[in-house]
Amino acid sequence: MNIHDFKKMKLEKRKISMVTAYDFLGAKAVGDSGVDTILVGDSAAMVIHGYDSTIHATPEMMVTHTAAVRRGAPLKFIIADMPFLTFRKGTEVAVQVAGDLLKAGANAVKLESLDGHEETIRYIIQSGIPVMGHIGLTPQFIQQIGGYKVQGRNEDAQKHLKRQAQELEKLGCFSIVLECVPQGLAQEIRDLLQIPVIGIGAGLQVDGQVLVYHDLLGLGTGHQPKFVRKFFAGYEGIRGALDQFHQETLAGTFPSEKETYQ
Ligand code: KIV
Repeated sequence: MNIHDFKKMKLEKRKISMVTAYDFLGAKAVGDSGVDTILVGDSAAMVIHGYDSTIHATPEMMVTHTAAVRRGAPLKFIIADMPFLTFRKGTEVAVQVAGDLLKAGANAVKLESLDGHEETIRYIIQSGIPVMGHIGLTPQFIQQIGGYKVQGRNEDAQKHLKRQAQELEKLGCFSIVLECVPQGLAQEIRDLLQIPVIGIGAGLQVDGQVLVYHDLLGLGTGHQPKFVRKFFAGYEGIRGALDQFHQETLAGTFPSEKETYQ
């Protein structure tokens, strides 16, 4: 897959699946699956590092995860998140971080929101780095938004989101993520754009779906938003295996004879 396939898949009405990955083994599992593309999300700050928001992701953190993911999934199209503020410090800083992510193994970068960094997006794209947009609920703006809630509920907000989506396409983004909006609005945005709209909490009427790896595998332990579907009881499975190891160690039934060198 390359950036041109995104538009082609939309044209051919083929849905795009995207999953986050942060480490070698997770990336290998996604890489060996049929999932189309990988996002090295700044959600790494939360699901891997235990912070309470994505604002703690740093360029170093994202470069390290991106390199591990590339080693795990050498053939997949990988998009890496530009961390909080890195695209608000001028084009020089932004292009440096985006370039470092590409050198670490990403094929493209993703940037949240639009207003005030239009020039930066244009500059990164003109520098040879494909950009994916991200609008709707943009977790890096959580303090301003005031909580993880559905966006685009009133007419002004809907107009604003539609304008942002069209502007991102005009700037040259190859795709956008649309997070946590009512499905009617998501469908309108999908129909306005030629580039694919990949939804998360945006309903069915979009060009693809993205989920966080830990959420879809049931590895998350905190509150899960309504749009998350657990495709696997990962946390229960891991806890069960750990408890079994502990109990068999105490009971003296591990290791068995077969697991022992004579
Ligand atoms: O960081 C992330 O995981 C994301 C997805 C939720 C789209 O941006």
